[in-house]
Amino acid sequence: MAKTKTAYFCQSCGYESAKWLGKCPSCNQWNTFVEEIVEKNSAAIPSWKNDTSARKLSKPSKVDEIQNSTERRMPTGDKELDRVLGGGLVEGSLILIGGEPGIGKSTLMLQLALNLKGKKLLYVSGEESEQQIKMRAERITESPSADCYILTETSTQNIFKQIEILQPQIVVVDSIQTLHSAHIDSTPGSVSQVRECTAELLRFAKETGTPVFLIGHITKDGAIAGPKILEHMVDTVLQFEGDRHHVYRILRSIKNRFGAAAELGIYEMQGSGLREVSNPSEILLSQRDEELSGIAIAAMLEGARPMLIETQALVSSAAYGTPQRSATGFDTKRLNMLLAVLEKRCGFRLSAQDVFLNIAGGIRVEDPAIDLAVLIAIISSHQDIAVSSKNCFAAEVGLSGEIRAVNRIEQRIAEADKLGFESIYISKYNLKGIDIKKYNIEIKAVSKIEEVFGLIFG
Ligand code: TYD
Ligand code: MG
Repeated sequence: MAKTKTAYFCQSCGYESAKWLGKCPSCNQWNTFVEEIVEKNSAAIPSWKNDTSARKLSKPSKVDEIQNSTERRMPTGDKELDRVLGGGLVEGSLILIGGEPGIGKSTLMLQLALNLKGKKLLYVSGEESEQQIKMRAERITESPSADCYILTETSTQNIFKQIEILQPQIVVVDSIQTLHSAHIDSTPGSVSQVRECTAELLRFAKETGTPVFLIGHITKDGAIAGPKILEHMVDTVLQFEGDRHHVYRILRSIKNRFGAAAELGIYEMQGSGLREVSNPSEILLSQRDEELSGIAIAAMLEGARPMLIETQALVSSAAYGTPQRSATGFDTKRLNMLLAVLEKRCGFRLSAQDVFLNIAGGIRVEDPAIDLAVLIAIISSHQDIAVSSKNCFAAEVGLSGEIRAVNRIEQRIAEADKLGFESIYISKYNLKGIDIKKYNIEIKAVSKIEEVFGLIFG
């Protein structure tokens, strides 16, 4: 009997080594090497149509002779998902959806499966039984698509057998970590299994032109479990995120070969599945009758999508020795930097104060244009002076307190204008080339943080 061939794989990045190593030379993680059996079983077991001989030989072709495939996009029936995918599902694409457990990945995919009428879809689940899926389906819709098939199976060879019989037009796999291929001996979820199963599905998707969705789990530190190369193999990586205690969920595209990355879709988790939120500003701005201190509104951009979002701050004297700084939905380091700017440039004594910052709706913001709104909210709370809810802000703040320009300012202004805001504060360096007269909203261009405070707090 042939000796089993094994190798050691870093469970964090997929680096392969012949011997065990304490520290991964590729990603510098400690203690991540695990021995896995890599010897392929006899080639008798067919993978996705294993007859390589029959595959047509590739030949070089001229760019202008290659047929364009732009119109081969298929709407999924879910407007938010279509937007994130860049305008629909591309034939033969492999899409990875990552997210924490319980965030709603299975719900999102099952909902897509049940609502997609007129297209044959196969939903492969290695995590739940048919009964469990049926129960979930009953919550989501009363009239499921007649072309939605459920398969509970984890062996890729069996899955491909069923696919050949059924000939589905879309395949969903929940989740890639539960699959195993008979070509590899290691356990499901290990680096080499995940890689092999993805490669088989990739081959299937490309050869048949069938779009395939893969659900992937996320590790504690937020990366998609399994090797990083998984992200390189697939065409599109979507991340489903949100605070589990909030109802809003965000579908973000991290990588997309067929559309803009950093595109965003918003859903609300309800008792009967996920609801698409087409106007995010409405839910991110709280309805209130009186003006409260500590609140400022930022004109943000997430992907290509403008939205107005509320930032809330609370500044109070520290009860204990070390003041606390805590931020939800915003980078704490950036908060500390902004507080330092306030101390140094504007003379506010905040070093003995607790500062709490909260972004509405459980959303995580990375757009630097929120800086100015964060500073205004902090000072508003510190001085206990409310800022009119008819004002909004869109600018980055630099280390010397200068108000910096942000990208796509016109989109932000137009959105604020549409929602009936009376004035928007932007950097004066953003004024170039925009036609102020086009908007009803008053555009206040500023260059220094002190100037803004003068205008708002007098
Ligand atoms: P699920 O899709 O199972 O998450 P994942 O596949 O990412 O692990 O989502 C489960 C959560 O969603 C669970 O806590 C219950 C909630 N949920 C609803 O609130 N409404 C619904 O209609 C459904 C189906 C689930
Ligand atoms: Mg699930």
